[in-house]
Amino acid sequence: MPTTLTFAHIQSYLDAILTKASGDITVSPHGRFWREKLDGSPITYQEFVDGVVPGADDPNSSTACAGTPVPNINKASPSETAFYEILKGRICDGSLPRMPKGGTFVFAKDANGNVTSTPTYDVSLPDGSVVQMTGVQIMDNIGEWLANGFPE
Ligand code: HEM
Repeated sequence: MPTTLTFAHIQSYLDAILTKASGDITVSPHGRFWREKLDGSPITYQEFVDGVVPGADDPNSSTACAGTPVPNINKASPSETAFYEILKGRICDGSLPRMPKGGTFVFAKDANGNVTSTPTYDVSLPDGSVVQMTGVQIMDNIGEWLANGFPE
């Protein structure tokens, strides 16, 4: 199925998830890596899709991905892209915690994989409108964008 979703939508979704995060993004190794570089300057679409998550490969961190850089986009298998996977659970063989670290997570599931709860977010869309979306809906849309080749 084709998509009308763009990188700007994905940025809006990640911003929305952040509004409910219990942790402080400014002390994370990556900051708002979907919007800006560590020096605070804006990141372009091309820089994002060709780049890696800042700090995720720090060999001195107990939560690093075994010293291995984590690409922003898994181009060989977009639907397994790390920032999408890490919103669902731990990645890097369990060495990186689910994000946003400490919660609020986009959904909770029971042992059978059924969603038991999902928060509702106010999402500020690229066109300036604000819509309410659940964590499940946000994840469905990120998955759709990735499966369609993560268009600009
Ligand atoms: C592949 C994508 C990501 C990687 C590799 C990653 C990696 C990390 C790492 C290594 C930490 C530090 C963990 C620690 O101190 O124990 C961290 C912290 C954090 N990350 Fe991520 N992260 C990713 C995506 C995200 C996303 C998408 C969000 C929010 C939408 C997010 C929000 C946070 C927050 C809030 C913290 C906690 C800062 C604190 O200690 O208060 N991360 N992340």
